[in-house]
Amino acid sequence: MPALTIALLGATGNVGGHYARLALDAGHSLRALARNPAKLDSIIPNGADHPNVIAIAGDATNPDDIANLIKGADVIVSCLGNPTKGVHIMTAAANNVLEVAAKQPEPPRCIFISSVGMGGTSWFIYKVLELMGRDKAGTADYETADQRLRTETTVPVTIVRPYALNDKPPKGTYNATTKSPMHLAKPITRADVAAFLLDATTNPQWDGPTGVQLSGT
Ligand SMILES: NC(=O)c1ccc[n+]([C@@H]2O[C@H](COP(=O)([O-])OP(=O)(O)OC[C@H]3O[C@@H](n4cnc5c(N)ncnc54)[C@H](OP(=O)(O)O)[C@@H]3O)[C@@H](O)[C@H]2O)c1
Repeated sequence: MPALTIALLGATGNVGGHYARLALDAGHSLRALARNPAKLDSIIPNGADHPNVIAIAGDATNPDDIANLIKGADVIVSCLGNPTKGVHIMTAAANNVLEVAAKQPEPPRCIFISSVGMGGTSWFIYKVLELMGRDKAGTADYETADQRLRTETTVPVTIVRPYALNDKPPKGTYNATTKSPMHLAKPITRADVAAFLLDATTNPQWDGPTGVQLSGT
């Protein structure tokens, strides 16, 4: 498999950090968007000075920053999350990524983390997220972003909907399924989500409007 240039959103986050290290270990190059590129220093060996990393200072809600990020990228991977309760970026980010990607002569594949409960995958989890996880508007932001992703017609998209995440050591396994509803499942480590994302980076098997539900083993 040839080395790819991956435009990565959320590299400074938990799943994004695992993904960045796995992708670099696999020989790929990253264009990593970060609101504060100095944060990459604690996440990637040599941080923004890693020879295979181009750090792009910017914000996912800014279309110009996204256009800069995806220049020359073979694949776009988003590990974004809302930065804090009450701040909702997922829909704006999905819109920006897909609009800019669709304008490329050869639109790159896009792999985007959403959340189980979205896209009709579980009314139960959706309610739990509204009540306990995120605020109502935050959950609605994830659902609107998910809807934007599953109705995209120009850019090939893999929508990844993980079940509850944890920071335990990776198991090296995961359950991936297009079947729903998925009301109850095993939590999955953030490292194993990143491993799935890396597999999906070179494998378009999950592309399409159905999306993939991801849980632990
Ligand atoms: N917790 C769960 O059980 C669960 C279950 C299913 C799905 N998920 C979802 O999985 C995703 C990844 O989770 P995680 O724990 O890795 O999230 P995380 O650690 O909170 O990472 C979020 C990333 O998004 C970036 N970000 C936020 N706002 C941005 C903006 N305006 N522009 C550019 N970057 C921005 C953050 O950058 P900064 O470093 O600049 O803040 C950070 O890199 C999230 O969407 C989460 O909701 C979580």
